[in-house]
Amino acid sequence: MKEIRVGVLGYGLMGKVHSHAYRVIPVIYDDHALNFTLELACLCGRSREAVSKRAASFGFKSYETDWRAMVDRDDIDVFDNCGPDSVHVEPTIRAAESGKHVVCEKPLALTTDDAYRMLEAVKKAGVKHLCGFHLRFLPAIQLARRLLDKGALGRVLHVRAAFLEDPVANTDLFARHRPGPPVSGTIGDLGSHAIDLLRFLIGEPEAVAALTRDVVQSEEVSIDDVFVAIVAFKNGVIGTLEASKFAIGRRSSLELQIYGEKGSMMFDLASLNYLRVHMAESGPQDLDIEGTRHINVTDPTHPYAKYWWGAGHGLGWGDAFVNELFHFVSCVVDGTDISPLGATFEDGYKAVVITDALARSARSRKEVSITY
Ligand SMILES: NC(=O)c1ccc[n+]([C@@H]2O[C@H](COP(=O)([O-])OP(=O)(O)OC[C@H]3O[C@@H](n4cnc5c(N)ncnc54)[C@H](O)[C@@H]3O)[C@@H](O)[C@H]2O)c1
Repeated sequence: MKEIRVGVLGYGLMGKVHSHAYRVIPVIYDDHALNFTLELACLCGRSREAVSKRAASFGFKSYETDWRAMVDRDDIDVFDNCGPDSVHVEPTIRAAESGKHVVCEKPLALTTDDAYRMLEAVKKAGVKHLCGFHLRFLPAIQLARRLLDKGALGRVLHVRAAFLEDPVANTDLFARHRPGPPVSGTIGDLGSHAIDLLRFLIGEPEAVAALTRDVVQSEEVSIDDVFVAIVAFKNGVIGTLEASKFAIGRRSSLELQIYGEKGSMMFDLASLNYLRVHMAESGPQDLDIEGTRHINVTDPTHPYAKYWWGAGHGLGWGDAFVNELFHFVSCVVDGTDISPLGATFEDGYKAVVITDALARSARSRKEVSITY
């Protein structure tokens, strides 16, 4: 059994979620697929008092207060960056250069140049890399991809994606309008998740056009709080894409609708154990039973479900991170590819190119082509 030693930067929301995932991977995947052990080797923060407390409660063996000290250590195999957007680039590049396999939360970087530098660094270092688009690892999303790969909907014609959040769900909403380190707006924060899922399920976008609205009026910092966009894909699919942090009543809802020649599919993050599938010719016509199936993806036949609680006992949002990081560590141990199931830094870079194109389109009020 190979031991993988993990160093995590940050103990905020994502630091907590990733640390929890590494802890429970051996519990969930126990006698099924596990050929490694995990050690929570080091947690990094800036305040000694706070990080030492968190390191103890999360179960880390040690902590550091300077990310340079952590990424330079030789007792860490995986560096997992759960820091804010502005702290993604330099620690991740340095970790890759020192031979660590790297995980970095989305958005990979705040600029296309920085995202490209990160991609080049991991390629040059020859390390495994994963960008934190964990929604790919929800069983319903994997079922959707499987059905699309099998051509269940026929030729896909039209997609709609909307990631809607309520101001109540966003404690940082007003903070991000105050001067400080740069952060992404709604396009980069929520839109990037929808973009990755559309690339995962539908294909590469060719061009986008967007409009944004800055709801919080701040004289110092202007950030998009709402955006709507249209997307043309290279394979001829057309779609709409939108996200809002001011969708009152929608705490966290990512809705995907995919319409093809033979049927349609619908997914909503707010109801993540279900994929709704409608086939135009699903029953004998004379019985008139054409309708939408609400497929509960907890049956053991569905992706990842056999490792979890059993049929009918649903997964939660955080459980997708367990599946995602299990996939990542398995690829590190087995030497297999993160892609196409997982999002690599190449996917992270492409998402940044698309979010940048959306922002440029909103500024210029013109359509922007996507070139990687
Ligand atoms: N995949 C998802 O669904 C998802 C959800 C939320 C956030 N995110 C992404 O995860 C990242 C982190 O978000 P969060 O909500 O956890 O943020 P957070 O503010 O809750 O946590 C950030 C952590 O980084 C630490 N930190 C900041 N600067 C540091 C430095 N220089 N050195 C060491 N530690 C430092 C902070 O102390 C804090 O512990 C962001 O890039 C965000 O976009 C992803």
